[in-house]
Amino acid sequence: MNHFGYQDGTLSAEDVSLATLAERVGTPFYCYSRATLERHYKVFAGALPKDSLVAFSVKANGNLAVLKTLALLGAGADVVSGGELAKALAAGIPAAKIVFSGVGKTREEMHQALTAGIYQFNVESEQELLALDEVARELNKRAPITLRINPDVDAKTHAKITTGTAETKFGIPFAHARAAYVQAAALRNVEIVGIDVHIGSQLTELEPFEAAFTKVAELARTLRLDGHSITRLDLGGGLGVPYENNNMPPPDPVAYGKVVARATEGLGCRLVFEPGRLIAANAGVLVSKVLYVKRGDAKTFLILDAGMNDLIRPAMYEAHHEIVAVTEPVPGVERVTYDVVGPVCETSDLFAAARALPELKSGDLVAILSAGAYGATMSSTYNARPPAPEVLVSGAEWAIVRPRLRHDDLIAQDKLPGWLSK
Ligand code: LLP
Repeated sequence: MNHFGYQDGTLSAEDVSLATLAERVGTPFYCYSRATLERHYKVFAGALPKDSLVAFSVKANGNLAVLKTLALLGAGADVVSGGELAKALAAGIPAAKIVFSGVGKTREEMHQALTAGIYQFNVESEQELLALDEVARELNKRAPITLRINPDVDAKTHAKITTGTAETKFGIPFAHARAAYVQAAALRNVEIVGIDVHIGSQLTELEPFEAAFTKVAELARTLRLDGHSITRLDLGGGLGVPYENNNMPPPDPVAYGKVVARATEGLGCRLVFEPGRLIAANAGVLVSKVLYVKRGDAKTFLILDAGMNDLIRPAMYEAHHEIVAVTEPVPGVERVTYDVVGPVCETSDLFAAARALPELKSGDLVAILSAGAYGATMSSTYNARPPAPEVLVSGAEWAIVRPRLRHDDLIAQDKLPGWLSK
């Protein structure tokens, strides 16, 4: 459930009209709802064993205000870079609730995370293990680690966001796991604390989770017999969200919680989760203005002032996002079929093909829904377009939580070499 809906004929985020925000902030802009973020976090955390760590995956939405909102509810963070680690700490997430994932952590990032004192490193290769041991030795510390295991389970999601099959770069192959743990146990500056798994994103079925978690639980028992101390299981993120109104919705957190409980029963491990999309996707929308309506020979194009640089998911994953008019359509009004596109000079700058919408004209506002995860974080300045600003709403209050950059800000990022600046 989310807190976006029509109020007095205008789409609102909680008690704030998106039309009012568009006037005040300009378009395009991202708008997040605090109540929705909080609700999603609570529903998810509430479906899991009480002492679990829910580490929000910062890559889904890294806005400091979003992170702080979640931090105040007790969330930890799943980070994949030194930049995300710095942001999570800046938002007030304690280091003791931060896990560091990713296949390519640099020694500098390991140094930064060890100095901060994070909860655990999810190590993804034997070479990374050796590097971490060395960096920890230099700092005279022991790095708490899990090994991320690739269980070779198909998540049945989009190929570009599948991570748990043998073809992907992620994790240590299941068959090598025991040997990798033996190797880790021989290192003095790492401390084995558990096992990590993450098989993909936007999972719409529970079976792949169940298969992966069951394999991990079996591995935990085997590793204990091998003499390792396995006290934590990090089960990753990945639970999908509804993007389409008319679709079968993905399983809810309660059903997911039951799968978790069944698979991990009797192990006595502390569980860690890394949800991103589930918390943030439907807590955000991208509001954009119709610039032009162009009637081509074959199609009618709705040209928006938001582009693929603002929201790349449709271009990159053929992702579906609902698009709605900010002014509430009259019930039963006739629909027009549009290709909804942005201004970027690429054919892939297409938000939706052949989408039936109420008739729209230049100056009308639309909201692209479910844009709170992997929206702003994946945006770019392609075509020298300043990224869309971000607004957070709380009840009837709102605040700009990332201002719009000016062209001068973008220009200032480049530097002329001496021979060109005379
Ligand atoms: N943990 C790890 C190790 C991950 O790699 C990811 C996502 C997550 C947690 C969070 O997964 P979530 O709960 O959000 O599904 N840009 C793509 C999604 C990429 C996901 C990458 N990893 C998209 O827009 O669909």
